[in-house]
Amino acid sequence: MFDTSTRTIVIVGAQWGDEGKGKLVDVLAERADWVVRYQGGANAGHTVHVGDESTVLHQVPSGILHPGVRCAIGNGVVLDPEGMFEEVDGLVATGVDVAGRLYLSDRAHLVMPYHKLVDKESAASKAIGTTGRGIGPAYEDKVARRGIRVLDLRHPARLRVLVEQGTEHANQILSGFGSNKRADAAFTLAALERIAPRLLAIAEDVGLAISRAQKQGAAVLLEGAQGSLLDVDHGTYPFVTSSNTTAGGAAVGVGISPRSIDAALGVVKAYTTRVGAGPLPTEFDAAMSQQVRTLGNEFGATTGRPRRCGWFDAVVVRYAVRVNGLTGLAITKLDVLDTLERIGLCVGFRVGGEVMTEFPGDLADLEGIEPVYEWFDGWGTSTAEARSLADLPTAARAYLDRIQALVECPAQYVSVGTRRDQIIGLV
Ligand code: IMP
Repeated sequence: MFDTSTRTIVIVGAQWGDEGKGKLVDVLAERADWVVRYQGGANAGHTVHVGDESTVLHQVPSGILHPGVRCAIGNGVVLDPEGMFEEVDGLVATGVDVAGRLYLSDRAHLVMPYHKLVDKESAASKAIGTTGRGIGPAYEDKVARRGIRVLDLRHPARLRVLVEQGTEHANQILSGFGSNKRADAAFTLAALERIAPRLLAIAEDVGLAISRAQKQGAAVLLEGAQGSLLDVDHGTYPFVTSSNTTAGGAAVGVGISPRSIDAALGVVKAYTTRVGAGPLPTEFDAAMSQQVRTLGNEFGATTGRPRRCGWFDAVVVRYAVRVNGLTGLAITKLDVLDTLERIGLCVGFRVGGEVMTEFPGDLADLEGIEPVYEWFDGWGTSTAEARSLADLPTAARAYLDRIQALVECPAQYVSVGTRRDQIIGLV
């Protein structure tokens, strides 16, 4: 995808997350100079399979497995510092050379132990089914202007005040919940002081570094986490995460010009999954969910929770194409459908006598809707070895063609297995 005129590409999930972004980033990173995360944090779980090994990355950008690629964590991320270094140490133990290749925005906000505590104790978080990684509370503090940024670690006196204020605020919330758990400022401060030198050693102005790299013609991959329907503005609010997962979030979350992004690749599964609560219009019944969950190994990479499964929803993906300005799609896990007798593709939502084809902002509009399906014959043969469109069965091609026509975006990749080489590149 990178060529002389396409130098900065953003990759986003175009459904509810877990679309296989890690694999696509890993594939594209081969030709990238930089891979940069721009939002979310340890709630993400990007799985990359290299040979027989699979690595799950939560905070370190998925480009790290390619030697020579530089990785950065942008200001829009909320960083769990201990979690990140555990990840780094795990990579180093398996022989990945991370030294000098990982950069962290000094403006990124830190997830504190009390953010995780509040997330875990909150009834609202439970109702949404959050990952419990403290993401929502950390973004709340950021927006309320009481957050703690990496650069605050340079100023011990200020840091102490911020930690005390943050702890007090968290304890008020915990007491409001009726929880008997309390955060401890001294414990948090001691942990931060221990980790500060290591964090500050990789801290810098990432926006400046990436803008300079862009000027010099570097190939930059902006790695989105979660999915467009989990975007705090454009997703199924309130069943969303707390950041802008869509392409617009990339410029803000790295500190680069929105005009510098040349292409937006949307990753979608050949069906749909979702973890946590909230609408999923094409959700299967329990038996079919179980079947597809087993075929696709649909369990959360971060929490291990079983994912809810359903048919591909063209209304949802067409919406994601629009909101992100997608220039191409990567359709993943086609092979998971190989053994199904027939395959449904949702083309609209029926309400009374009408068919809705635009995804609504008001979730009440989704109550009582019935998905309208087009049905496709299954292909009954393995696609795992396909390496070009011509290798795919006619029925699979018909299904892919219809998806592209409905969502008004061309497919640029089709993935047919977990391994790096199991991919059909159409560009
Ligand atoms: P939070 O991001 O932990 O606050 O969770 C909010 C919602 O986003 C929940 O429904 C989570 O299951 C979902 N979510 C967060 N991160 C991911 C992800 O990486 N993949 C899929 N769902 C996610």
